[in-house]
Amino acid sequence: MSEKIRVLIDEQAVDQKIAELGAQISKDYAGKEVHLICVLKGGVFFMCELAKRITVPVSMDFMSVSSYGNDTKSSGVVKIVKDLDEPIEGKDVLVVEDIIDSGRTLSYLLEILKNRKPASLHLCTLLDKPERRVKPVEVDYTAFNIPDEFVVGYGLDYAQRYRNLPYIGVVELDED
Ligand code: IMP
Ligand code: MG
Repeated sequence: MSEKIRVLIDEQAVDQKIAELGAQISKDYAGKEVHLICVLKGGVFFMCELAKRITVPVSMDFMSVSSYGNDTKSSGVVKIVKDLDEPIEGKDVLVVEDIIDSGRTLSYLLEILKNRKPASLHLCTLLDKPERRVKPVEVDYTAFNIPDEFVVGYGLDYAQRYRNLPYIGVVELDED
């Protein structure tokens, strides 16, 4: 059995959308500094591209939360694998995620971050699967809403592979 990737959102469409989000965020944060928090590892590619399109001062930090392992279904178990390096108190924080699925990871993470007293706390995601939501999450910036399909690329993996694809695709299994 081999795997094939069907393109769902091509590279040009992703780049275009990130440029739009970057412009919107630059406008919304005018006169401020935005502190981007990347949720590893999936958010890395999106955060880097987004950061390049933001024109207000940007600082960045990274955090890792586990929820999935190598499976394609949420375990419901969420734990902090790597915490932030810097305190976020008083900062205008924008969390950058690859995808919001059940919302379990994000609702847990946002609660933790809120307790650390940032000046503001917002959420930006590359992808959202609204039909899959179990826990409500307020999303401020979404690049794309997608149907309930397992996607890879632009930071998203299937068993740690395909993160480096410059587009977003769906894994399809071939019977040969
Ligand atoms: P949630 O807690 O169910 O919202 O899960 C969010 C996390 O699950 C994301 O940050 C991804 O790491 C992973 N995930 C959810 N859906 C997909 C997918 O379609 N492809 C790859 N990873 C996914
Ligand atoms: Mg993730």
